[in-house]
Amino acid sequence: MAQWTSAIGPAQLARQLKAQQPRPVGTGLRKPPAYRALADGIRLLVLEGRVPAAARLPAERELAVALSVSRTTVAAAYEALRGEGFLESRRGAGSWTAVPAGHPLPGRGLEPLPPESLGSMIDLGCAALPAPEPWLTRGVQGALEELPPYAHTHGDYPAGLPALRQMLADRYTARGIPTMPEQIMVTTGAMGAMDAICHLFAGRGERIAVESPSYANILQLMREAGARLVPIAMAEGLTGWDLPRWRQVLRDAAPRLAYVVADFHNPTGALADEDQRRQLVDAARSAGTVLVVDETMSELWLDEDLAMPRPVCAFDPAGATVLTVGSASKAFWAGMRIGWVRAAPDIIRSLVAARAYADLGTPVLEQLAVNWLMGTGGWEQAVELRRTQARENRDALVAAVRRELPGWEFDVPRGGLTLWVRTGGLSGSRIAEVGERVGVRVPSGPRFGVDGAFEGYVRLPFTVGGPVAEEAAVRLAAAARLVETGGGSGSAEPPRTFVA
Ligand SMILES: Cc1ncc(COP(=O)(O)O)c(C=O)c1O
Repeated sequence: MAQWTSAIGPAQLARQLKAQQPRPVGTGLRKPPAYRALADGIRLLVLEGRVPAAARLPAERELAVALSVSRTTVAAAYEALRGEGFLESRRGAGSWTAVPAGHPLPGRGLEPLPPESLGSMIDLGCAALPAPEPWLTRGVQGALEELPPYAHTHGDYPAGLPALRQMLADRYTARGIPTMPEQIMVTTGAMGAMDAICHLFAGRGERIAVESPSYANILQLMREAGARLVPIAMAEGLTGWDLPRWRQVLRDAAPRLAYVVADFHNPTGALADEDQRRQLVDAARSAGTVLVVDETMSELWLDEDLAMPRPVCAFDPAGATVLTVGSASKAFWAGMRIGWVRAAPDIIRSLVAARAYADLGTPVLEQLAVNWLMGTGGWEQAVELRRTQARENRDALVAAVRRELPGWEFDVPRGGLTLWVRTGGLSGSRIAEVGERVGVRVPSGPRFGVDGAFEGYVRLPFTVGGPVAEEAAVRLAAAARLVETGGGSGSAEPPRTFVA
């Protein structure tokens, strides 16, 4: 019996492999032998989750033709992969990809590593900062005081605690968008909100228009929900949304949903202006598409002189076209796992039904803590701390990367938590792989793309500052040198924790 569960064709594999080579070759640097480069390329596709484990690879002859290399090269590459545990073969059944025992399982999203496993590795894998103390402790203490009446109930609130729904509604009203508590559902993070939205609107095969690039974990959530992603390219620089293109794609593809991060887009940091917001809503309304707006980063404006545009839902206050997703994760702390959705009451009712069988509700204590913080002004003070921290980190990281990696290019965003960096023509996947060996963990560009796009990028978050940001840039420069000189190729070892 064959051991494979999916198959990748020769043309598709060749396309993915070619995308890994953004730098024009022939710069006089040491190149690995062709078979080694091919084995490394396939191994990277497996490690980055772009070719799944147990995927049948093309026959040697077919792949040789698609890549214009000799069959011997492909045979030697397959042999090397077999030796490293990334390929299994059986006569008559062909060859299929594998992950060696003990190796971390590949994923396409951004898997946080347990902090205690990192050693001296600098982790730029996730754009999440530590809690802004003392506000976490104060919020939890406030919540404990308010807990007793809830302790007498069953504790399941699939729509969220009434007090927090009211609080979140009032905050939208204060921002100029009148909102009732019936228009709010509290969720387990923005991820929980998106999960319920995909569950309700985007069943198998349904189309979802997404920015290209977009936030890796939500792209992966949508893929796993069985949706078909329709990428719409972000414009160069920080201008972001190309409205004629959005209108055309929404009209032609008529996706059920569109997902945008209009406030300090993850990963590019772009901020949509009011006109772009209005036009996005118009385009969605005319196409009959539900526009999901992820406001996770919206409170993280870092430049003091920045006048924030109105929220996208200001252009659809009833919430029939625009579903707004919010979260405490970036403004406050990801460990709270508190998010929410704002939409029309009937949509909220359906979302509550859609989420009920996933988790029945969000923990009461954390909801009370967020409610306490928002009600006492602690939230604003905590977010102010966050902004100061993120601003200092951004400035330190920008200076360090400019100094250590002058060939890398980026635009400095005015808010959010991420720098989207063009890696001077080097493969972002290879930088990510080699980075782990020299002590810096960084997600490659293709994690934020659809179908392997953005190979020439990495994403750097504003989570480290001062000397750590400088050391991160030094290690990234070391990784870049290794990739450039071919010294990073050929390792079958799992990523190791760096020991300084
Ligand atoms: C745009 C965006 N949406 C959602 C999330 C995840 O949010 P949560 O932790 O609330 O699930 C993140 C976290 O990085 C994000 O950047």
